[in-house]
Amino acid sequence: MAIDKYILVTGGAGYIGSHTVVELIQRGFKVVVIDSLVNSSYDAIVRAEYIVRSPIPFFKIDLHDKAALNKVFDDYAIEGVIHFAAFKAVGESAQKPLEYYENNVGGAVALLEVMSTHGVKTIVYSSSATVYGDVSRFKDHNYLPINEKCPTDPVSPYGKTKYAIENIIADLHSSDNSWRGAVLRYFNPIGAHPSGLLGEDPLGVPNNLLPYLAQVAVGRRDKLNVFGNDYDSRDGTPIRDYIHVVDLAQGHVAALEYLKTLEQGQGLYRVWNLGTGKGSTVLEIHAAFSAVVGRELPYNVVGRRAGDVLNLTADPTRANTELGWKAKLTVEDACRDLWKWTMENPYGFQVKNFKWSLFN
Ligand code: NAD
Ligand code: WQD
Repeated sequence: MAIDKYILVTGGAGYIGSHTVVELIQRGFKVVVIDSLVNSSYDAIVRAEYIVRSPIPFFKIDLHDKAALNKVFDDYAIEGVIHFAAFKAVGESAQKPLEYYENNVGGAVALLEVMSTHGVKTIVYSSSATVYGDVSRFKDHNYLPINEKCPTDPVSPYGKTKYAIENIIADLHSSDNSWRGAVLRYFNPIGAHPSGLLGEDPLGVPNNLLPYLAQVAVGRRDKLNVFGNDYDSRDGTPIRDYIHVVDLAQGHVAALEYLKTLEQGQGLYRVWNLGTGKGSTVLEIHAAFSAVVGRELPYNVVGRRAGDVLNLTADPTRANTELGWKAKLTVEDACRDLWKWTMENPYGFQVKNFKWSLFN
């Protein structure tokens, strides 16, 4: 009898991880999740189980706990890993760089060591468009939209940890060509699961635009602070490539399926941008979300935020052609799904009001 093979998802209770767990299971993959729950809630797993109508093996483990990780690899026939678990707040990383290096880089090294011990050499890794830095630094070359050949220059400690891990995976592949490393550089993930059951649930004051706007819409914040309208864009506010989290989750499934098409023993190290190729300004996002909510949400223009850049828009051609993946959903779809998630869970996972556990 064939043994069931599993995909280990680290950080699978988090925002992007929980959506990816759902997409993987719906595509027929068997999944085991680990998460320390440092920035997430077990409720996300319970809700994912409800969406897929099956139990999801989950272990509350910190990546640094190699003994516990080893046990998961002993107990499950793991064929590959999708690695989401990390700290992700850009501003906080400048205040606490050692915590970021320790958690993100240290955690990834621990994971890769355990994978190595168990002969598991397939990893899909969550990287970020932040590794490209400020592409307006190039005076003699226009790198917009940004393809994977654009030189990298992460600015924040967070961005440097993301890039360091890319390099560690690349070095591992150089040392042993049978390693398969798929590095996915996400642009700006937004939105929520269309069921209204999963979404982003930031602790404290949201750093990101749409989670902040959502809290304005439900009265948890007074108004949006728009960080500068003196940029060289169509309305003066910065441009980003906002991608629906479900499209992004499907990008991980596509990357895994691509790796599975390789010959036995054949390795790879490859970077793919996951974005839509379409840029929106802050005010365009404000207008799109206000339209879904049905009233103009209050905002106020304040000074620029340190570290912000004018434009980060993807050229997703490589992922489109090689992975056969393309973002299908629009900013309007993401706003609609975010609003449903927000209305049905105005305090996110914090209020334990979810009644649909499969098991009670
Ligand atoms: P998230 O915080 O919702 O999810 C990360 C998960 O990892 C959380 O559930 C957290 O509890 C867990 N975690 C953190 N450190 C851990 C550790 N040491 N051991 C075990 N679990 C740990 O964040 P997200 O938005 O879902 O991001 C997922 C990944 O995608 C991260 O690696 C992030 O850097 C990357 N990324 C996110 C964005 C974004 O805008 N959300 C953009 C680009 C890249
Ligand atoms: C988007 C735009 C702000 C909040 C961050 C990380 C990046 C990646 C994705 C992880 C910017 C403006 C925002 C607000 C505003 N994450 N804004 N008022 O900065 O593009 O990317 O998340 O890898 O690494 O840096 O996303 O949502 O914070 O900002 O005006 O209250 O919205 O200035 O132009 P960002 P964001």
